Amino acid sequence: MQEVIIQGGRPLAGKVSISGAKNAGLPALAASLLTDDFVTIHRMPDLKDIRFMGSLLEDLGCEFSFQDGTACVRALAIGGNPSYERVQQMRASICLLGPLIARLKRVNMPPPGGCVLGQRPIDLHLHGLTALGCEIFIQNGLICASANQLKGATVSMGGVFGSTVTGTINVICAATLANGTTIIENAAREPEVADLCRMLVKMGAKIDGIGESTLTIDGVEQLHGASHELIPDRIEFGTFLLLALAGRGKLELTKMDAALCGAIIDALAESGAEFEEIGNFFIVHGERSNLRPMHLETLPFPGLPTDLQAPLCTLFTQICGESSMLENIYPDRFTHVGELRRMGADIVMDGRRAVIRGATHLSGAPVMIPDLRAGACLYSAALLARGESILRGIHHVDRGYEIFDEKLRKIGAVLQRREIMQKDGCEKI
Ligand code: EPU
Repeated sequence: MQEVIIQGGRPLAGKVSISGAKNAGLPALAASLLTDDFVTIHRMPDLKDIRFMGSLLEDLGCEFSFQDGTACVRALAIGGNPSYERVQQMRASICLLGPLIARLKRVNMPPPGGCVLGQRPIDLHLHGLTALGCEIFIQNGLICASANQLKGATVSMGGVFGSTVTGTINVICAATLANGTTIIENAAREPEVADLCRMLVKMGAKIDGIGESTLTIDGVEQLHGASHELIPDRIEFGTFLLLALAGRGKLELTKMDAALCGAIIDALAESGAEFEEIGNFFIVHGERSNLRPMHLETLPFPGLPTDLQAPLCTLFTQICGESSMLENIYPDRFTHVGELRRMGADIVMDGRRAVIRGATHLSGAPVMIPDLRAGACLYSAALLARGESILRGIHHVDRGYEIFDEKLRKIGAVLQRREIMQKDGCEKI
C-alpha cells in the first residue's frame, strides 16, 4: 500500500510523451487468443491492467512476454476458464468472452460484476453472442457459453445510452471465425474498437466499415499471427491537456494523434483554449488561454468521452463563472466530487449534472482515490492546490496511467510516493 504526497501550486511546463492506449491494448491481448500463431503488439503501455491481462492469458495456457513496450502472445495450446478471483479484479476481463467462445467453442467464466461506476450490465454482450448462435446461460455465478459453430447474423449493439465498447469488441472477435457474414449495427465507434479491427485484419479477418457504426464481417476459417502498433492513449492525452489549461502551463504533448480527440479539443478551443499542432506534436498554451465557462456532456465517440469527465471537473474549478458537466454514460460516475469539495471546490449536484462555480483556490488535503479517472482528477487538483495533499488509493491510477509520477515530475510537479505504515491495525500517515 502506497500513498503519494504532492506539494501543489508549482508551475507546470515541458514535454510529455503519450503512451499507447490501455483500452486498445486490453482487447488486443484478448484477441490474440483467436490464433495459435504469435501475435506481437507494440506500444503496449506498462500498466497494472495490462500485466493483469497477461496473467489471465498465462492462466489459460498462453505464452506471454512483455518487455520494452512490446507484448508477445502465443495461444498455442490453451484451455481452462478464467477464474473468479481474476475476473472480479478487472472488468475488462470480459473481453476474453468472445475470443474464447470463437477459439474453444465453450467457456465458463464469471461475469465481471459492478464497480464504483455503477452496475455495468453485460446484457448486450450476451445478446450479441447469442445472435451468432452461441448458447448462453448463467449458472452458479458463471456465464456458461457454448457454440459448436458460430453463424453470421445481423446484430445491434445499441442500448439507451448509445453503444457498448467491449460488447462490440466481443461480437467482432466472435464474428471473425463465424460461418458466414455478420453485420453489426450500432457498433461502438470508439478509436480503440477501430484499432482492434485493424489488428484483426492484419491477422486475416475480413472486416468492412472500420470506424463506422455498421461493421460487416465475413467469417474466415482461421486467423494467423501479426504484428501491430497500438494507437496513442486519448484519455492520457486529454488528462495532460486539461492539466495544462487548469494550471496555466505550456505543455508539449508528443506522439499523439489529435484527430482522436476532436470533441474535447473543439470544446476547449471554443471556450478560449489556445493550441498549436505540428505533426504529432500538440502544444497546449495554458499560459495564454483565458477560458470561459463551459456546459458539456459526455457521449459515445465521437462525443466527449466519459473517461475525461472527472478531469474536466477539476478544470472547471479553475474557470471564472458557472460551468456544468452532464454524465450520460455512467450516471453514478461522480465519486470524485466529495473529495474535490473537501479541497474547496464549489460543486452542486443536480441529478447526473455537476454544476461547478469557479475560480477556486483549492487547498491541499488528504484525499482517497475511488477509481482510475477520479484519480486523474484528484492528482490534478492536488497539483493545483496550495499546500500539501496526501493521496491514497493510488493503485487505481497505476492501472491506467503509465509512469504517471515520472511524467508529472518531468514537467515540474513535486511529488513522492511512500509506503503507508500500518500501526495497531490502523493506517498511519
Ligand atoms: N451497457 C449496457 N449493457 C451492456 C454493456 C453496457 O447497458 O451490455 C451500458 C453501460 O452501463 C454504460 C454504457 O453501456 O452505460 C457504456 O458501457 P460500455 O459497455 O461501452 O463500457 P465498457 O465497454 O465496459 C469501456 C472502457 C471504459 C469506458 C467505457 C465508455 C475498456 C476496457 N473500458 O468500458 O473505460 O469508460 O468503455 O467509453 O475499454 C477506463 O478506462 O477508466 C474505463 C472505465
